[in-house]
Amino acid sequence: MTEAEIFDKIVQERRAIRKYDENAIMPEGVVERSLKRATLAPSSSNMQLYEFYRITKKEDLKILAEYCMGQGAATTAQEMVVVVVRLDKYRQRAKHNHDNLARIWKGVNDKRYKRIDNYYRKLMPIFYFTDPFGLIGWLKKLLVFTIGIFRPVVREVAKKDMHVTGHKSAALAAQTFMLSIQAEGFGTCPMEGMDSKRIKRWLKLPYRAEINMVISAGVPKFPEALYNERLRVPFEEVYHEK
Ligand SMILES: Cc1cc2nc3c(=O)[nH]c(=O)nc-3n(C[C@H](O)[C@H](O)[C@H](O)COP(=O)(O)O)c2cc1C
Repeated sequence: MTEAEIFDKIVQERRAIRKYDENAIMPEGVVERSLKRATLAPSSSNMQLYEFYRITKKEDLKILAEYCMGQGAATTAQEMVVVVVRLDKYRQRAKHNHDNLARIWKGVNDKRYKRIDNYYRKLMPIFYFTDPFGLIGWLKKLLVFTIGIFRPVVREVAKKDMHVTGHKSAALAAQTFMLSIQAEGFGTCPMEGMDSKRIKRWLKLPYRAEINMVISAGVPKFPEALYNERLRVPFEEVYHEK
């Protein structure tokens, strides 16, 4: 099999699993390996403003399944992972990037190092800084609007845009995790049908943390695992050439 054929098989076979075999066991290591692979997903400015909370204990799975509205995809799962967006960690993650890149470039290519230093020490903190009312975001918006009259500029700088930025990268990590679990021979189901407020409180997460999605994982119980055959809108509806 070529690499493309292997990848195609994984993508074709990944389905949203609504029922797992409750007596089956998922070998230790599958989820952790897959979460490590998930961290290799691209993230905006390599900031990785997300975290994963892995739930494995029976009593915890029961609570989380209840917060996932008692869906079959949750009540029968062997394990669950809560993907959390942590925009509030932007200072730490910017420093981590800065220090790593400084180690590589400082004294080797000082022009490049200066750009990195400016990006992670000045630009990132400005980009992610917000106030509770989003007023600073509107000021930034006004600034980019003015600059945008003269040249192309990144326009997504308001408070709501930060949330989108965070969730985009977290979702890419989530998808990498699900494909990895599939490659390991198991199934997953992403869930946004859940009580994010209760889950946040249960995980003792800070106010600014946001639940991206909950992903259940386990050994699918076919045929109940699938609601029906795979359905998509015709490809021509989503494919455009300019
Ligand atoms: C962000 C997101 C949230 C989802 N939430 C749920 C959910 O709460 N419950 C559920 O059963 N499926 C959920 N799904 C799964 C979709 O319904 C499923 O992916 C879609 O129907 C296509 O089916 P397939 O994944 O088997 O191809 C979600 C999928 C995504 C991407």
